[in-house]
Amino acid sequence: MPGPSNRTIRTFRAADAEPLATLLRNSLATGEQSGHTASDFESLIGAFPIVRHLLVAELDDAPVGIISPDHRLLLVHPDVRRRGIGRALVEAAEDEIASSPDGPVVLFPPHGSEGAIAFLEAIGYAYDHSFWRFGLDPELPSPLPELPDDLSVGHYTDTEILPYIDLINTSFRGHPTPLRVTREQIEHVHGKASFDPASIAILRNESGDLIGFCTTSIDRDATPPVGHINLVGVLNEHRGRGLGRWLLLWGIHRLQSQGIDQIELSVDAENENAVGLYRSVGFDPVEEWPQWIRVGACVLGPES
Ligand SMILES: CC(C)(COP(=O)(O)OP(=O)(O)OC[C@H]1O[C@@H](n2cnc3c(N)ncnc32)[C@H](O)[C@@H]1OP(=O)(O)O)[C@@H](O)C(=O)NCCC(=O)NCCS
Repeated sequence: MPGPSNRTIRTFRAADAEPLATLLRNSLATGEQSGHTASDFESLIGAFPIVRHLLVAELDDAPVGIISPDHRLLLVHPDVRRRGIGRALVEAAEDEIASSPDGPVVLFPPHGSEGAIAFLEAIGYAYDHSFWRFGLDPELPSPLPELPDDLSVGHYTDTEILPYIDLINTSFRGHPTPLRVTREQIEHVHGKASFDPASIAILRNESGDLIGFCTTSIDRDATPPVGHINLVGVLNEHRGRGLGRWLLLWGIHRLQSQGIDQIELSVDAENENAVGLYRSVGFDPVEEWPQWIRVGACVLGPES
């Protein structure tokens, strides 16, 4: 997609990795990315070649901008702002995502950034809903109840990667915020030296079918380290038996058994069932991430 002067919006190339990593780290260091963390940026940088719908703006043969809809991230090099590059990246990402199940493009204006809000309004975006970071009150005891007799819990194993991916994608079908994982993404995350299969619980019924799961991780770069409940999912036909709560409590116990006191998760405010569940075990909101989409676009999952 050629543009004014010698600007191009294109897919990622290996040679972009270093300049884009520098662009991202410098932007974080200036404070203009408030709401994103170093760990968010490093996970994006580590996954560049496999990030879905990642697009790069190139000017005079150098990468000067990046958009990653999965990370709600858009960044243009400070030296070339106000030349239409941000707008061109968003429009190209919208074209790219249109033929996938992953749309629409959702962007998060960093906290306190009047420039980002002005930009979003100028390109026809509006506030749609919010994501929240919830933190667990460490003083609240949360005993782990017995599982019903017909169910068992185990850890993830690589031999089950395909049923596991199916479990995640089926559990999140119709979710207020679309979520779809690919084999490439799971293999990338599970290929990291820090990955521990015991950080994932999988619930099975008597036939051995996978019916629910919880994934946890620990950000050890944070001080003190922060434990995350990343995903909790239960297949539709097994809901209403308290299994989501059981899996959430499993995640809390798993992290606490690893010496973690600060436990967090993020949730879409419109997902009332999840918000109610999280609050009931002692999670409270600590940070809001407003989500903006193009006026007239719709963020609901395919079966909602
Ligand atoms: C926000 C950002 C991506 C905009 O990129 P950009 O290439 O400068 O944007 P464009 O040139 O396409 O701007 C399109 C219009 O948005 C508006 N706009 C952009 N930045 C603005 C600012 N700082 N203040 C006021 N209006 C702004 C203007 O109307 C602009 O058109 P104009 O220059 O003809 O007046 C860039 O400033 C950036 O990387 N900021 C830091 C990261 C960030 O905040 N990202 C989140 C974006 S939601």
